[in-house]
Amino acid sequence: MNDIFELIDKLSSKHSLSLEEYEKLILAKNDETTEYLKRKAVETRKNIYGNSVFIRGLIEISNICKNDCYYCGIRGSNKSCDRYRLNIEEIIECCKEGYSLGFRTLVLQGGEDGYFRDEMLVDLIRKIKAECPDCAVTLSLGERSKESYQRLYDASADRYLLRHETATKEHYQKLHPDNLSFENRMECLKNLKDIGFQTGCGFMVGSPFQTVSDIARDLKFIEEFRPDMCGIGPFIPHKDTPFANHPAGSAELTCCLLSIIRLIKPNILLPATTALGTINADGRENGIKSGANVIMPNLSPQSVRNKYMLYDNKLSDGNESAQNLENLKIKMRSIGYEVVTDRGDIIK
Ligand code: 5AD
Repeated sequence: MNDIFELIDKLSSKHSLSLEEYEKLILAKNDETTEYLKRKAVETRKNIYGNSVFIRGLIEISNICKNDCYYCGIRGSNKSCDRYRLNIEEIIECCKEGYSLGFRTLVLQGGEDGYFRDEMLVDLIRKIKAECPDCAVTLSLGERSKESYQRLYDASADRYLLRHETATKEHYQKLHPDNLSFENRMECLKNLKDIGFQTGCGFMVGSPFQTVSDIARDLKFIEEFRPDMCGIGPFIPHKDTPFANHPAGSAELTCCLLSIIRLIKPNILLPATTALGTINADGRENGIKSGANVIMPNLSPQSVRNKYMLYDNKLSDGNESAQNLENLKIKMRSIGYEVVTDRGDIIK
C-alpha cells in the first residue's frame, strides 16, 4: 500500500510513470489512495488555475455521421436516429446567445457530416469571430485531411478536439469498423498539433473490451502526446448500437483517471464531461473535485437537444444546459469553485 502513495508522489513530481506503474496505480487503488490522489490533483490544479472553472458553450451542429462506430448512438447505420443539421444562421444564433450568456469559448461539435465542407466551415468560423470577437472557437468534427485542418486553422479556429478513443490498436479495431484506422486517428491528432491548434484527445472509461493495460497505454499516450485538453467520460451503452448490452463504465474510475491525468500534465484543460454527469447525479461536481477544471454546458437549440444521443439518457436539460448557468455557478461556488467568463486558454 505504501508503495501506492510513493507512486502518487512520483507521478506528481515527475509527471511520468511506466506502463506497469500506471497499471499498479489503477489496480491497487482503495479509498485512502484515491483520497490522496485527489488531494494531490486538486492542489496541482489550484497552483495553476486557482479555483477557476472554465465554461465552454457546446453547439451540436449535426448528428449526421458517415461513420459507424460500434459504441455511438449517432452511428450512420442507426435507422432510429432522428437526423438534423443546423444551418449557418442557426449556428450563429446559438453563438450569439452563448456570447450574451457570458461564454467566451464556443465549441462546434458534430458527426462526420460531409455537408460541412471546408469552405462552409471557413465562412462559419469567420462569421463567428466577427460576431463574437473575443471568443475562442473549438471544433470537434472528426477526422479530416491535413489540408482541411490547415484551412480551418487559417480561418482562425483556435482549438480542436478529437478523442483518440484508445491508444491500443487492437482495442481500436474492436470499437470501430474496418474502414476506420488507428493509424489515421493518430495521424490526425499529430497533424492538428503540428498545425498549431490547441489540441484535445481523450477516451471512454470502461468501453467494451478495455483492459487495465489499455488504460495504462492511454495514460502513457497522454504523457507523450502532451495534449492541451483531454476529454474522458464513462462509456454508456446506447440501445440501438452493437454495444447495447455492454455495461457502463464507472464514475469512480473516471474520477480517479481525471486525477491521474491532472498529475501527468498539470496545466491540462480537463472537462468534467456530460457522460460523467449522466451516470451520476453529482458526476460533474465530483469530476471538478478530482482535478477537472472545465465544464461544457449545452447551447444547442432546444428542438435538437434530445437528438444528439451518443448514449442512452444523455443529459439534455437541467444543469448542463447553458441557460442554467446561474445554477451551475451556485453549485460550483458551493464546492469552492468560481465559474469564470474567460476564453480559458491553457496556461503554459
Ligand atoms: N458512451 C460514452 N461516450 C461516447 N462517445 C460516443 N459514444 C459514446 C458512448 N456510448 C464519445 C466518444 C466520442 C465522443 C464525441 O463521445 O468518445 O469521441
